[in-house]
Amino acid sequence: MRDVQHEIADARRIAAACRSLEELRAALEGFEACPLAATATQLCFADGHPQAPLFLVGEAPGAAEDRLGKPFVGPSGQLLDRMLAAIGLDRSRVWITNTVFWRPPGNRPPTAAEIAMCLPFLERQIALVRPKVLLFLGGLAARVLLGMDEGVTRLRGREFVYRGDDLPHALPAFVTYHPAYLLRQPAQKRFAWRDLLAVAARLEDAAVG
Ligand code: URA
Repeated sequence: MRDVQHEIADARRIAAACRSLEELRAALEGFEACPLAATATQLCFADGHPQAPLFLVGEAPGAAEDRLGKPFVGPSGQLLDRMLAAIGLDRSRVWITNTVFWRPPGNRPPTAAEIAMCLPFLERQIALVRPKVLLFLGGLAARVLLGMDEGVTRLRGREFVYRGDDLPHALPAFVTYHPAYLLRQPAQKRFAWRDLLAVAARLEDAAVG
């Protein structure tokens, strides 16, 4: 059996060769090294506008996403749509994806190896969309893409800098509570609202700047 480091190196090489989001999707359709691909119903690549100014990253597809092949289409997705609407956005103006592109069995958290194999494809998506601002839904996406080691409560409410290999410049990045958490803890929505206002202000700066 090939070891994980080889699979990650392959993922990097394959993702780097993709010149468009369509090529990247096709490459992921054929990428069988990630064990999640074997247990999921289908690939859950992304949703939204390919040149969106705002790029959102969740955690992992759930049952509804696995069925439809699109991120955030279940109850969390409905709340996410309302959160976006609160700052005047909808899915035609954002790009939404996850740290892994297939549903983990039984909704268990993705393993470090699964995340590492998907990461080159996630980073390539960011490079191909070239958004103005990143928003991470929950601590996992922030830890994966920013290399941080803190929980969401310590990460939200701050602005970070994301530097991607294939990006001409660094991007502002924000973290907020995952919608699934907000469904369980509605009192925390006021903090998410503050985060969304900070994101909206940064998008406004990017639009005029
Ligand atoms: N939760 C996530 O993190 N991503 C989805 O796509 C759905 C639920």
